[in-house]
Amino acid sequence: MGKKGISIAIDGPAGSGKSTVARRVAEALGLLYVDTGAMYRAVTLKAQREKISLDDGEALTKLANELDLSYKKMPDHTYRLFMDGEDVSDEIRTERVSTGVSLVAAVKGVRRALVERQKQMGAAGDVVMDGRDIGSTVLPEADYKIFLTASIHERAKRRWLELQAQKVDVSLEEIEEGLQKRDYIDCNRETDPLRPAPGCLILDTTDLDIDQVVGKILSLINNNP
Ligand code: CDP
Repeated sequence: MGKKGISIAIDGPAGSGKSTVARRVAEALGLLYVDTGAMYRAVTLKAQREKISLDDGEALTKLANELDLSYKKMPDHTYRLFMDGEDVSDEIRTERVSTGVSLVAAVKGVRRALVERQKQMGAAGDVVMDGRDIGSTVLPEADYKIFLTASIHERAKRRWLELQAQKVDVSLEEIEEGLQKRDYIDCNRETDPLRPAPGCLILDTTDLDIDQVVGKILSLINNNP
């Protein structure tokens, strides 16, 4: 049975388990899942393809305003992101995009454009949205706000295991360095920096597995209807 009319904001740094947890919570409660990071990644991919410099804020803003993005739930319950009609779900996860995305996401005009779209997607409720600024900016009225974190070493290890499984050859040190850089830019940008929203529940997942984190969030919701 779907629990209706609620909105859940899940924020946190890279590798905190946000996307997996948010997707599982949405599935368990019959809510729509929106991955806002995927939208910043799509703008980054498009900019890289068009050879737009990642410090050209004006060109990036134009791109973010014009890009046709749609996020669709497939029959097998996975979500795919379409950019100008093309399924870019896999390409937006490459290291090349990961390395550039925080620069693009720091551009004020890009954030304005994407936050506006995200607010529209969340307006009807019945949604779990994950990102960096959901509880603070996109859905400040969300019924539940959760901030997931974990030690940098644990987050790097999770990402490394994911990449190992995809046969991507990269060292744990490189991953840790990349995450640290991205955290730094995300936490220190002027517009909507990454930080826990007032009143959110902060969950340190360093010693918790996905089932335990999902369980904690579901019991928070069930105990505070
Ligand atoms: O999955 P992972 O944590 O690696 O990243 P993501 O959620 O796909 O987000 C990629 C990047 O997009 C982040 O490092 C942020 O720079 C940016 N982002 C943001 O600024 N605001 C959001 N609401 C979501 C993502």
